[in-house]
Amino acid sequence: MDTKSIFLGFVALLWLLRPIVSQLSIPPVLDGFRYGEASAAGKEENEVLIEAFYDPVCPDSRDSWPPLKQAVEEFSSRVRLVVHTFPLPYHDNSFATSKALHIANKINSSTTFHVLEAFFHHQELFYGKVTFNKSKAAVRERIVDFTAKTLGSSSYRSAVKSGFNDTSIDNENRYAFKYGCVRGVYATPFFFVNGFPLADTGSALNYEGWRRVLDPLISKEGRNRQRHAHSL
Ligand SMILES: *[C@@H]1O[C@H](CO)[C@@H](O)[C@H](O)[C@H]1NC(C)=O
Ligand SMILES: *[C@@H]1O[C@H](CO)[C@@H](O)[C@H](O)[C@H]1NC(C)=O
Ligand SMILES: *[C@@H]1O[C@H](CO)[C@@H](O)[C@H](O)[C@H]1NC(C)=O
Repeated sequence: MDTKSIFLGFVALLWLLRPIVSQLSIPPVLDGFRYGEASAAGKEENEVLIEAFYDPVCPDSRDSWPPLKQAVEEFSSRVRLVVHTFPLPYHDNSFATSKALHIANKINSSTTFHVLEAFFHHQELFYGKVTFNKSKAAVRERIVDFTAKTLGSSSYRSAVKSGFNDTSIDNENRYAFKYGCVRGVYATPFFFVNGFPLADTGSALNYEGWRRVLDPLISKEGRNRQRHAHSL
């Protein structure tokens, strides 16, 4: 065999092993020795951490949310979910709609996911032809109205509007984006489980897909097996 066919064979072997490798590469618990934490059986130790990077105007983010939400609610005692905004530059108004989420979170943090879902359900109001000829100010007005209405009443309008001029909220929105960059996020949706990137990132994972990821990490047997496995 020449070098080229050995190389191709190696690539083919890697491709065949791909699902096994990606399955094994997620640890059942967050890695690391926890200094000064008395009990190794603390709550965090038993939780699987999912981090999702979402763009509120990204259709794939929208499609991936219901199955993730279902899986997380089902395992609520064992799974923790943290959502970060990651506005993609090639989606119209992604940074402004992300900012609206940070504003809503500041006004009333119980409404954040309600507002995220509202953007997901009405993405078509914020990109493409409908905003193509609109000024930045006009689009902002639309986002302010939409967010205030979603918060429950137009009386939130002035709070939302001044939120757009609030530098600390602007910084939160920037930090979320930069945090994604630091973690190597390059598309949405993008998921990490216990800090490890999921293989199928950038597309919607369905409910069965989430169960395949979470079940082995959550079952006691799976956790012990993985903890004692030598083949990691
Ligand atoms: C925050 O939002 C929740 C859910 O919509 C609502 O029940 C609660 O009254 C709100 N809190 C304030 C201070 O407005
Ligand atoms: C934007 O405005 C221009 C000029 O009025 C018009 O020709 C064009 O069709 C508009 N485009 C969209 C997508 O509405
Ligand atoms: C926010 O800033 C814009 C200019 O960037 C200004 O026109 C507007 O009046 C300000 N709005 C509030 C509510 O401070």
